[in-house]
Amino acid sequence: MDGSIERNLRELEAEAQEAVPAAGGAAELEAVRIRLLGRKEGRLTAIMRTLGQLSADERPAAGQAANRVKDVITGLLDAREEELAAAAEDGREAVDLTLPGRTQWRGGRHPVTQVVDEICGIFRTLGFSRVRGPEVETDWYNFTALNTPLDHPAADMSDTFYLPGGLLLRSHTSPVQVRTMQAHAPPIRVVAPGMVYRRDPYDASHAPAFEQIEGLAVDEGITFVDFKATLAEFARRFFGAEAEVRFRPSFFPFTEPSAEVDVSCLLCDRQGCSACKDTGWIEIMGAGMVDPGVFEQVGYDPERYTGFAFGMGPARIAMLRYGIPDIRLFYEGDVRFLRQFA
Ligand code: DAH
Repeated sequence: MDGSIERNLRELEAEAQEAVPAAGGAAELEAVRIRLLGRKEGRLTAIMRTLGQLSADERPAAGQAANRVKDVITGLLDAREEELAAAAEDGREAVDLTLPGRTQWRGGRHPVTQVVDEICGIFRTLGFSRVRGPEVETDWYNFTALNTPLDHPAADMSDTFYLPGGLLLRSHTSPVQVRTMQAHAPPIRVVAPGMVYRRDPYDASHAPAFEQIEGLAVDEGITFVDFKATLAEFARRFFGAEAEVRFRPSFFPFTEPSAEVDVSCLLCDRQGCSACKDTGWIEIMGAGMVDPGVFEQVGYDPERYTGFAFGMGPARIAMLRYGIPDIRLFYEGDVRFLRQFA
């Protein structure tokens, strides 16, 4: 048998072994078939035509070899056709089962929600249960019952969203203190997370709607020591054992005495940075001993009961923890931002 015919057949077979399984669809497979076995221009036909140059006794062996290669290629084509048909039936093109699956992000808890849950979880271990109250309030719950006269600057029209009929969007979660005390007798230990509303600008550090967590503990014999120890313990559990806590005198109408609670700045280790405005401390909440005037409003005997209260902003705390420079990122719903916390 002529050496070059034999070589051409071997090359054709090798090419078929590669090209046929690589065909990604029916049209591509048909093109491969025409190129290899096509009656007029196909590669096998071209080889067959050269058989005529052989002598009569060489021809039968060469003809047999050519037929064998044709059978091999036909077999490959049939097998690939079946594979593609099966894949198409599944509604898919040929599938590479070794590829990693395409996962889909199914969403996750919002970073502020995660911080709220974590804070409430810490207070839960300290004996506080989680409650909530309405976002639409009366001015009595939002101000008057909290010892805040309606001519107090906090009650100013410009600070709150007023609704018809003496209703307003609560400007803080403190009214939940009042509702809890009306509904239950002491002892009380609650935390109340929720949204609050203010006519604040929408900028890097303010939003007109944001989260707060209110806390309240009332019982016989609660002292300033319980107040400081509880909040310092919370701060250490949330921010880390090395966090320092300080209480600065302040004023709120519904607490007396009142304090702002600061933690040492975790970002600069009290050296001073932009997050703490070079003070080394970051304010995390307002707090104080419940003013006896509030107990009178809800019918608790101020001679018998004492307590403490606090209010904090978990969005600010989340910004601090994750080094987020702009509060608006929390409220824009950009999945590229949110999925980092999933
Ligand atoms: N309600 C206050 C505010 O929105 C925060 C606050 C301060 C809550 C002192 C308290 C507290 O319970 O005792 O700014």
